[in-house]
Order: sequence, then C-alpha cells, then structure tokens
Amino acid sequence: MSQSKDSRISFARLAGIRTAFLNAPMPGAATPELVAAVSEAGGLGVIPAAPLTPEEIHAFADRVKSLTKKPFAVNLTVPSLHKPVPEDFTRFADAISLLLAELGLPDGSDGKLAEHYDLTLSKVPDFASQFDAAMSCGARAVISSFGGFREPEAERLEDAGILNIGCATTLREAKVLRAAGVDAVVVQGAEAGGPRLSFEDSDKALVGLSALLPAAAAATGLPVIAAGGIAVPAQTAGLAAMGASGVMVGTALLGVRESGAPEVLKRASRYATAADTVLSRIYTGRLCRILGNGLADALADWENMTAGYPGQQALMMPLHQRAEELGREDLMMLPLGQSAGRSAYATAATCTEALGLREA
Ligand SMILES: Cc1cc2nc3c(=O)[nH]c(=O)nc-3n(C[C@H](O)[C@H](O)[C@H](O)COP(=O)(O)O)c2cc1C
Repeated sequence: MSQSKDSRISFARLAGIRTAFLNAPMPGAATPELVAAVSEAGGLGVIPAAPLTPEEIHAFADRVKSLTKKPFAVNLTVPSLHKPVPEDFTRFADAISLLLAELGLPDGSDGKLAEHYDLTLSKVPDFASQFDAAMSCGARAVISSFGGFREPEAERLEDAGILNIGCATTLREAKVLRAAGVDAVVVQGAEAGGPRLSFEDSDKALVGLSALLPAAAAATGLPVIAAGGIAVPAQTAGLAAMGASGVMVGTALLGVRESGAPEVLKRASRYATAADTVLSRIYTGRLCRILGNGLADALADWENMTAGYPGQQALMMPLHQRAEELGREDLMMLPLGQSAGRSAYATAATCTEALGLREA
C-alpha cells in the first residue's frame, strides 16, 4: 500500500540540503559554476555527465568542489540498446545532403558517411567507466536518465550511501523505478524542455505535470521531484500541494549569469513563449522540446524517418556545431521548455532561492 504524503521523508532531508532545488542536467548550459552556485545556494547542483569521459567527469567535479563544499549530484544516461542502422542513417543524410554540403560537412558523395559521422559510436564514452567516475567523484546522488540503473549499479550506490535517483514520464515508469530500488523519482511533465526521458512508455504519452505528479507521489511513496515548465514561486507552492518534494529546473536557468548556453538560447529563455516551442526528433532521434526553427519546419515530414537515437545524433550534432559556429540560428538545436519567457533570474542562486522547496 502506498504511504501517505506525510510519512514520506522529504527530499531535502534525504539529500542533506536546505532547499529542494536541482538544476536540470543540460550539457553545455549547466557549467561547473552553475552547478556549484545551485549547491552553494542550498540546492543540489547536478553535473550533466552523459557526454563526458570519466576524466572529464572528475575534472568537472573537481571544479565544482573547488567552488563549494556542499553536496552535488551527477547525471548519466542509461545506454540505448538501439544500434544505428546504416540504411536509415544514409537515407536521412541523403535527404539533407544539399544542406550538409552548404555547411561544408561531408555529404556522403564519397560513399564514406559512416566513417565521417562516427556511426559505430566509437567516440561515445563507455558507460561502465562513466559510472565508476560518478561513484568516485564525491557525488551525493547519481541520477539516471532514460531508465533506471541495473541491480549491480543500484547495489553499488546503496553500499556507498550514494542516492539513486531515476526519471519518469508516466506513472508506470515511476513504479518501475521504485521496483528497481531508487531513493527518489524525478517526474518530467510534457512541459519540459529538452529530451523526453521516456524508457518504458511511448514518448508520445506526453503526460502533463499536474496529472503525473500527484499520481506518482501517491503510488511510489518516495520523494518526488517535479520537472517541466517551472519558473515562478507560485508553481513551487502548487506543486508542493500536489505532492512534490522538490523541483528540477532547466529552461528558467538558461539565461542566468553562470549559464553556458549559446546567446540565442539565453535570449529565447527570456523572450520566447511556450507556443514557440515544438516537439521534434530530427536532432537526436529522440523526441525533444526545442525552440521551433527553419530546419525543424523543413524536416517535419521526416520526423518518423530519422535514424533513431543514437544514430541520428551522430549525424546531426556535427551539423548543430557547425551551425553554431556560423551563427545559423535557423539550424541549431535549441532545447527549450514551456516556461520560456516566464522568468528572468540573474543568477543560479536567485533562481534556487526563488523556486526551491523548503520544509515547513
Ligand atoms: C537545454 C536543455 C538541455 C537538456 N538536456 C538534457 C539531457 O542531456 N539529459 C537529460 O536527462 N535531460 C535534459 N534536459 C531535460 C531536463 O532534464 C528537464 O527534464 C527539463 O529541463 C525540465 O523542464 P524545464 O526545462 O521546463 O525546466 C534538458 C533540458 C534543457 C532545457
């Protein structure tokens, strides 16, 4: 039987922090300075470690530890079992070959697409070594995206006294994570910027936070951290009333001083609106909420014909990087949630103070 809200231990107490606020794991945007500032302000800074090598994870954590003595967390991505299918990759690359050529990127005309674009994923960091680094870098918690940690990893975390946190987009996923032994669950509503963190149910389920949060809190009896579209203090109060034990915030942090987001994304986080965001698979193969742009519009018909994750990402990240170098905002991947335009926090600390959930 599920426990009542009152018998649940609060996330702040569990993590040993003052205010239950976590920054979203946003590679590039969540810099060591941003992560440290969130922790220093009493929240739990989260290192976006998914794209990092073990050495880079340690270097990132060392920088955070040089800026704060407070607890912090590490986020990792559970590896996808889906291997890129060369035919799917080639078909999508063919569809955008003129654009690739215009940007000076390999367009496949030499028949060597797989070599140019790391189709074998040889440059993707090894998950087991990343996990070792996350375990040994001094983190208070490790957060898994796109599924829970397997039993051996969960046991290692438990033995080391490191919190095991998973992310769910549906009630079923929250229950699956509880069965896998997590200490707390992040529930990601449809409002959220960036990738849908689905792993068990369809990413098209798109459950809103106000439907997902109370259901997940009641069914799991665990501390539940709400994510998606959070930007103003009234939301924190409302989410707490619906059973949230903490909040995770991405979009509202993009414009703060410590953010490493590209200028265009900082601007969009302040001046775009929820209606400017769209859901698209074209950049990574996963459904992502992004700022709508010319490329997403032009490739709308190709939504369901991508090379899937992670093959599509191997093709599109070089394109995104070149677009950023050239200042081509119409082509860049700009993850953005529905809280766009709803806040203008100057620093990560003011955002943490304003939105963090404190115990009564
Ligand atoms: C710029 C950006 C990048 C993101 N990248 C990731 C990521 O790499 N991995 C991940 O688990 N979540 C990622 N997310 C999603 C967050 O984990 C979180 O669910 C989301 O930011 C919460 O919604 P909000 O942006 O409306 O606050 C990203 C979000 C944004 C805005």
